[in-house]
Amino acid sequence: MCPGSFDPVTNGHLDIVGRAARLFDEVVVAVLINQSKAGLFSLDERLDMLAEVTKGYPNVRVEAFQGLLVDFCRANEIAVIVKGVRVASDFDYELQMSQMNIGLAGIETLFMPTNPQYSFLSSSLIKDVAKWGGDVSPHVPDVVADRLRDRFARD
Ligand code: PNS
Repeated sequence: MCPGSFDPVTNGHLDIVGRAARLFDEVVVAVLINQSKAGLFSLDERLDMLAEVTKGYPNVRVEAFQGLLVDFCRANEIAVIVKGVRVASDFDYELQMSQMNIGLAGIETLFMPTNPQYSFLSSSLIKDVAKWGGDVSPHVPDVVADRLRDRFARD
């Protein structure tokens, strides 16, 4: 499983999903339904964009989840969480979550170093740049760049 908020999916996320798809028979991209934090894009929009950008991977499917990640893993017989690590500070936080998740349910987390060309990317940075009219097209799939342009053109 590759879990996250994906608000929106970036080329960095897609790189991790594609690499996971080469390592595992099946990959679930799991989108967190976060009722306490409204994102820029609705859940349906995030799922749509992810479905579009992963359609070239026959062994990848996209699903939404709420509650504990490990409960979703158990319900779907998923044994491994794959997380991209961009910088050392990512690792501190990810390590805590992985230790909690293995303690809660014995679910393993594998860390995948981010491709250096994406190590500075984050969804929040992309949204900030796009909001002020900056060009994010080198960093996100075309469908995401288009949706960001539409979204901020309307605001
Ligand atoms: O893209 P994000 O926002 O960094 O993803 C974080 C995510 C969704 C992986 C994390 O918040 C999560 O697993 N949330 C589900 C709730 C849960 O299981 N929390 C305990 C983690 S130890």
